[in-house]
This record gives sequence, C-alpha cells and structure tokens, in this order.
Amino acid sequence: MASRPLSLAILGATGAVGRTVLQVLEDRDTPVKSLKLLASERSQGTVLEFKGEELPVEPLKPGVFQGCDVAIFSAGSAVSREWAPKAWAEGCAVVDNSSAFRADPEVPLVVPEVNPEALAGFRAKGLVANPNCAVTPLLVALQPLHRAAGIERLVVSTYQSVSGAGQKAVEQLEGEAHALMNGAEPDAPHQIPYRIAFNLVPQIGAFVEGGETEEERSIAAESRRILGAPGLRVSATAVRVPIFYGHSWSVNLATGRKLSAGEARELLKQAPGVKLVDDLKERIYPMPLLAVNDDAVLVGRVREDASQEHGLALFVVADNLRKGAATNAVQLAELLGEKYL
Ligand SMILES: NC(=O)c1ccc[n+]([C@@H]2O[C@H](COP(=O)([O-])OP(=O)(O)OC[C@H]3O[C@@H](n4cnc5c(N)ncnc54)[C@H](OP(=O)(O)O)[C@@H]3O)[C@@H](O)[C@H]2O)c1
Repeated sequence: MASRPLSLAILGATGAVGRTVLQVLEDRDTPVKSLKLLASERSQGTVLEFKGEELPVEPLKPGVFQGCDVAIFSAGSAVSREWAPKAWAEGCAVVDNSSAFRADPEVPLVVPEVNPEALAGFRAKGLVANPNCAVTPLLVALQPLHRAAGIERLVVSTYQSVSGAGQKAVEQLEGEAHALMNGAEPDAPHQIPYRIAFNLVPQIGAFVEGGETEEERSIAAESRRILGAPGLRVSATAVRVPIFYGHSWSVNLATGRKLSAGEARELLKQAPGVKLVDDLKERIYPMPLLAVNDDAVLVGRVREDASQEHGLALFVVADNLRKGAATNAVQLAELLGEKYL
C-alpha cells in the first residue's frame, strides 16, 4: 500500500540528520503534502531547499505541530523529551531519532525490515523511536541469520564515523586534519573527547557501571529488544574512527544450529535492505567508501569461525546518516502513513 501524501515536520532540519532526512525524502520520492522545517532560534533566517523550492526554517513554538501528520525529531534528547508529548497533543505523531525514548517499553523501537509489526504500539504515546545508528544497520544484516538459525551470542566491534556525533564532530575532524597536514597545532577537541584525526577513541557515550559505555549498553539492549531475543548474549566495543561518513561493524556470532558460510551468503543475498558485497577473488568487500549515500547495508567477508561451535564472522558497513538515522526514520513515517494514520 502506498503512503498517502503526508504533512510532515522535520525538527532539527539544519543538523546532520535533519539535512539527510530532506535528501532521503527527495530520493525516495516520499509523497509529501506539506513540509515544515524547524530548528533552534540560532537558525532564524536560514533557508533550506527541498525539490527545488526554498523553505524557511522556523523556531519551535506552541501550536507549530498543528496540521502535521508526522514530525521527524533530530534535535537531541532534551528537546525530544519536552516537545514529543506537545506534538502528540497537537495531533502529530513523532518519529524520534534521539535516545530519549529508546528504552521506554511503551514506545516501539522499530527497524522496518526486522520488526515492523511493533509500530502498531505507537499510539500509546504518539511516538516511535528510531534505534541507535550503531544498531539499525547491524540488525538489518543479522535478521536473516537470526531467523534461519537463532543467534545465541554476538561479539561486535564498531568503527563509527565522526558524523555519528553530529555536525560539530565533522568540523572537529576537518579542523584537526587540516591543521596537522599544515604543520600547525590543532585546536583543543570540542566534540569528541580526544583528537580524532589520525587517532581512534574507544569511548562513545559515558561509562556505566562495569566499564561499558552507554553506546555499548544500548547496542546490546536494543539488539535484544528489536530481534525479540531477550536471552541473546552480547559483547560490544564501540570505537570512534577518523572517517567522516559510514559506520562499520566487525561481527562474530554463534547460532543455535550450524549455518555454513554459503548458506549465510544465500540468506543475505535475499534479505531486504542488504547488499552482499563479498567476492574475495576480486577483492570486493564492504568499505565506508562504497556505502556513503547508499540506503543499503553492505555485508561481506562472510566466513565460518572455527574457534567456536556454529560460529560465523562477517563485516558490515552502512551510511550512518542514511539507514542509521534518516532513511529508517523516513521509512517509519511512510509506514505510519500507509497503515496507521
Ligand atoms: N548523526 C547521526 O549519525 C545520528 C544517528 C542517529 C541518531 N542521531 C540523533 O539525532 C539527533 C540529531 O543529531 P545530529 O547528528 O543531526 O546533530 P546536529 O548536527 O548537532 O544537529 C542538531 C539539530 O538540532 C537542532 N537543535 C538543537 N537544539 C535545539 C533546540 N533547543 N530547539 C530546536 N532545535 C534544536 C539544531 O538546530 P540549530 O542548527 O538551530 O542549532 C540542529 O538542527 C541527536 O539526538 C542524535 O543523537 C544522530
């Protein structure tokens, strides 16, 4: 069923995710009846382009969501907590990109290729949460393997690009790389806690009890919830890398029944949202370079892991701003329009 034309709002339209939402709406040719762009007071006077038309960016104020069907929020958790209930009170459902509601059992957390049925629960709070950008593409790749053979244990290391930490982190890497290549001392880091140019930072989010980070904890919790696998054992290490766009995952897993590498490749080839990029003779495998601006999740280096029973290893890459954030959010808005509004 096609989505009826939606009256949409994009909150955080001037940010890294918000701008990508605009691009994804154009690329998917999502039926849009009207579009409202919202950001902070700082963006007063800013104009953004959509389908050749210039649209003004408006500040948030009461009543702004009236007449909108769906708002895609990408302005951080504090803004979402305050404004999502107000939007729903004005009759507008919210697709939220922040982490504010991802752990709320009354708010569905949805990847359309994995658990679309969960979207039905959005009416409890007029909200659906978009999962963490380190989770959505990973689960698009894992779902076909989980469905076929039951994943029991998952060990994952992430290689997350700076755009995952917002536009200011992109500027930090640009500034540092430019300074270092010109023999100058870079400015003190302002978004990622250490210099990221020519470096790696094995901390994303604050540390929690036991030594994990919030990011690593949400990879585990969100994977269990979305796959419907409460007993899944997960060990995650999340690392920020000096790449502008594209997150990668080194994945090692153990399944309940044996899955050969050939079977896994066949399943991945047919899975919605997945592109199998795996031809060793031709040295073809997923890389961020290949994933940028693609909505697909690239999977390759699929091989059996002989160090454990029923072990498999793979490498996954996706554009964090597209399938990791904007594309999934737009798909959710479309699904709301098709089925529920
Ligand atoms: N980057 C990713 O890969 C990614 C992936 C998934 C989820 N997310 C989440 O999406 C959200 C946005 O991330 P981002 O990377 O796009 O950040 P960003 O580039 O820093 O953009 C933030 C946006 O929020 C707006 N904003 C900030 N404070 C506001 C306020 N008080 N009222 C209204 N608008 C306000 C900003 O408007 P101004 O320009 O006016 O300041 C800007 O449009 C965050 O919650 C983030 O965790 C990001």
